Amino acid sequence: MSGRIAVLASGVGSNAEALADACEDGRIDGSLCIVGSNRPDAEVLARAAARGLPTLALDHRSYPDRAAFDAALHDAIAAFEPDLVVLAGFMRILTPAFITPWRGRLVNIHPSLLPLYPGLDTHARALAAGDRWAGATVHYVIEALDAGPAILQAKVPIEAGDSPGTLAARVRVEEHRIYPLAVQACLSGRVRLAGERAELDGAVLPPSGAREAALAR
Ligand code: GRF
Repeated sequence: MSGRIAVLASGVGSNAEALADACEDGRIDGSLCIVGSNRPDAEVLARAAARGLPTLALDHRSYPDRAAFDAALHDAIAAFEPDLVVLAGFMRILTPAFITPWRGRLVNIHPSLLPLYPGLDTHARALAAGDRWAGATVHYVIEALDAGPAILQAKVPIEAGDSPGTLAARVRVEEHRIYPLAVQACLSGRVRLAGERAELDGAVLPPSGAREAALAR
């Protein structure tokens, strides 16, 4: 059965585009049923519309507080009946008003090797710490920020002379590769959130080195 994916994004939308590509070429057995943003002028909405995808803008500044915005966002997204809600550069901290009803069907991609560097400015922080590796993590979203169980990670080397921008570009290539893989694994039901942990085929996920191959099977 082909899955319905809601994507939420606030910026450029290169990850949304990578997911749309993967739906079109069959790496994901599904389609984007809605691309939503909290920023009516976000490039992601223009890109999605240009591909003929349905879009939704819900400006968070029109709501009195986070909980009111999140409740409205929930209702708007639920109307499209997604199987999975995918955050792809959605720059809003979500509250339980949104997270709780979508728990286990809500994933995010974060540009660091979580649990390292939750929050913002991840690449600058990795560079300042003198790290040798950076990367991205696809994880389930739970109430604590950037703290849900990891589904898949990709590592990239930090090179001499890297700036946050050059590092972000190298990491983004990997994001575009692993996000479709993880989304397909969730949609197919092979990956699930069981209580506080992510499982693959009903068992604990393999260690990160073996995980990508296991998910791709
Ligand atoms: C990505 O780096 C993602 O990891 C982070 O926000 C960025 C979104 O980029 N959560 P794009 O809008 O998908 O190009």
